[in-house]
Amino acid sequence: MVANWKMNPTTYRSARALFDGIKAQASKLTKVETVIAPSFLHIQPLSNAYKGKKIAFAAQDVYVEQEGSYTGEVSPLQLKDVKVRYVIVGHSERRAMGENDSVVAAKVRAVLDNGLVPIVCVGEKERNDQGTYLTFIKKQLIASLKDVKESEVGSVVVAYEPLWAIGRSAEDAMDGHELHQMSLYIHKILIDEYTHKHAQNIRILYGGSVEPQNTEELLKEGNVDGFLVGHASLNAQEFGSILARVQSLK
Ligand code: PGA
Repeated sequence: MVANWKMNPTTYRSARALFDGIKAQASKLTKVETVIAPSFLHIQPLSNAYKGKKIAFAAQDVYVEQEGSYTGEVSPLQLKDVKVRYVIVGHSERRAMGENDSVVAAKVRAVLDNGLVPIVCVGEKERNDQGTYLTFIKKQLIASLKDVKESEVGSVVVAYEPLWAIGRSAEDAMDGHELHQMSLYIHKILIDEYTHKHAQNIRILYGGSVEPQNTEELLKEGNVDGFLVGHASLNAQEFGSILARVQSLK
């Protein structure tokens, strides 16, 4: 269960309060892995202060090089140094800023080369009756994982995040049935590309307006391993209630 805080909260003080609220819920869970992706700035103070084992840290992006003259960028080694385990790569909000599939593929490579776990995001902008979004997802997924070796693919996490469902509300998100179709489709693409043995270990998450109200349906019917939660993860109570629901259904 990944909390993607995006460019929130605006102060460390609020980030710490949010973290502590989520920690109180997450520490009771036995079957759920909770991952928090704060802004780059807030990762280190949060990870230094956290002594538990239930929460892992993720970064929301990374650069492809380990060190050097790349103004404004953050390297995978710097992330490792502050106890980051996962890196979100190719989120649609980054793709909208110009990141294409080959940049995403290079970032996935850099993440794996440094012993971190990539959470690779894919998702269509819109859907139509012709089903062209299926071809789009296939191309985007294959291109984003282009440099991943067979032996590594099992550790990759794929996050399916249709753009039309992001940042809305539970009513506008996907329903469980639609999600089930898409998760089967993504599994099939992965099994066609890699051997079954490795592809079956790939965890698939769904992201796009996951809220306490639709958690149950999406998890029961959607056939996914977890969720990438944006706005609902900025409220400890809401995110805690999503976590508790997942725990009770797993
Ligand atoms: P949302 O964001 O839960 O606010 O829709 C999900 C995401 O963009 O990762």
